Amino acid sequence: MRVCVIGTGYVGLVTGVCLAHIGHDVICVDNNEEKVKLMKQGQSPIYEPGLSELMLSCMKHKKLNFTTDLGAGVNHGEILFIAVGTPALPTGESDTRYVEAVARGIGNYLNGGYKVIVNKSTVPIGSGDWVRMIVLEGFKEKHTATVGEGFTMTENSMPEFDVVSNPEFLREGTAVYDTFNPDRIVLGSSNEKAIALMKELYQPLVDRTFSDHPDLPPVPIVVTDLSSAEMIKYAANAFLATKISFINEVANICDRVGADVTQVAKGIGLDSRIGPKFLQAGIGWGGSCFPKDVSALIHTAHDYGYETELLNAAVNVNKRQKSIVIEKLQQELKILKGKVIGLLGLTFKPDTDDMRDAPALNIIQELNRLGAKVKAYDPIVSQTGLSHGLSGVVIESSTEMLADGCDALVLVTDWQEFLKLDLEKISKLMKNHLIIDGRNFLDKTAIEKTGFHYVGIGKS
Ligand code: UDX
Repeated sequence: MRVCVIGTGYVGLVTGVCLAHIGHDVICVDNNEEKVKLMKQGQSPIYEPGLSELMLSCMKHKKLNFTTDLGAGVNHGEILFIAVGTPALPTGESDTRYVEAVARGIGNYLNGGYKVIVNKSTVPIGSGDWVRMIVLEGFKEKHTATVGEGFTMTENSMPEFDVVSNPEFLREGTAVYDTFNPDRIVLGSSNEKAIALMKELYQPLVDRTFSDHPDLPPVPIVVTDLSSAEMIKYAANAFLATKISFINEVANICDRVGADVTQVAKGIGLDSRIGPKFLQAGIGWGGSCFPKDVSALIHTAHDYGYETELLNAAVNVNKRQKSIVIEKLQQELKILKGKVIGLLGLTFKPDTDDMRDAPALNIIQELNRLGAKVKAYDPIVSQTGLSHGLSGVVIESSTEMLADGCDALVLVTDWQEFLKLDLEKISKLMKNHLIIDGRNFLDKTAIEKTGFHYVGIGKS
């Protein structure tokens, strides 16, 4: 099928590349000329394992193209994906101005032939109908400009299109794997023709033709109305964020009573009603989705006069959790003024270069406020030299350089390479042998054997 994906952020680019890989003819549109130039040369503007290779292969097979020309994209696609960002405004509401601009732009270029306009951006509940209205406004504006004020939209001149909500559940760092191995596909629309086309588009994924687990039963498709599909995305992210805040609260109680949260998580996670995933206690959730989506859902509820007690608590627990390593450093080192603290990892999770709402940002800020000197080593940030606008932290190029002169190391991101730290070497470089494991990721016994004092979260 002919597909156009508008917006080449994490969601848009991964969607475009993966749809091209399963056989569709895809054009990705972005208004950033630099980015399009880079992608046309086969370079991915984001770090995502496996994405560049797939991108190059699709381009070689002439299944994938990039352009800044929205008109060309709209012309090409029978299915048009809107995959632009919906960042949080300072109020917590989501900023839908990019979705609006794209919907209007699509309206400007619609010219006969049925199209399905798919919303992949995470938009406030009720946006599907609003997108439809904006597309029609865009269409009318364009025709008024060309035909003149006399233009009126009639049954015959109306562009033929439907809007479908198709939320995305991919995780950064495993985005390609998640796209080929979805747990479910959610399609929100009351229009049968649009749903049938979307099912045809996703058939190879439903059949697991490109899956790592081809023997599993077909991927379930959940067909809902527009608003329910939009709500599914928020509810899924809010549930997962709450689950993490729950285990973090349990970890804080474990710390006080002398229990081990990793054993508690194992013990409760084996209950099939609870499940083992997202029970990893640590320094809290960050990233581009959880913080933004939870606050947008709280905001939507407010708009309808409903106070979200549980979600507010999940957010508050998370806010407090980001300071937990500061508390632990103070317990161990007492005064932090003048101390040198080395952070292992900066990104909000491993296998990504994303620093959005990363707990590291709060830790750096708080340590600076208390007068500590902060250094950091991150496999991606140190390697790419991207500063991410970070201030108050010296970026080191190896774990040895990081350890040199440190009073404590704090593991912030659970990158695999930190499992292979040369502890003997590192201990000789440090002033004081303390490791705070903010993700309960390292091997406590092995660390203690090398003479370090190990402090985890909820497992003292
Ligand atoms: C999330 C959702 O998982 C995904 O479905 C949605 O499309 C986008 O948001 P992502 O932000 O990429 O994906 O990361 P995820 O792996 O879910 O982790 C989110 C945060 O929670 C990270 O900061 C991570 O470190 C933290 N986390 C996750 C925990 O602290 N404990 C856990 O057990 C799991």
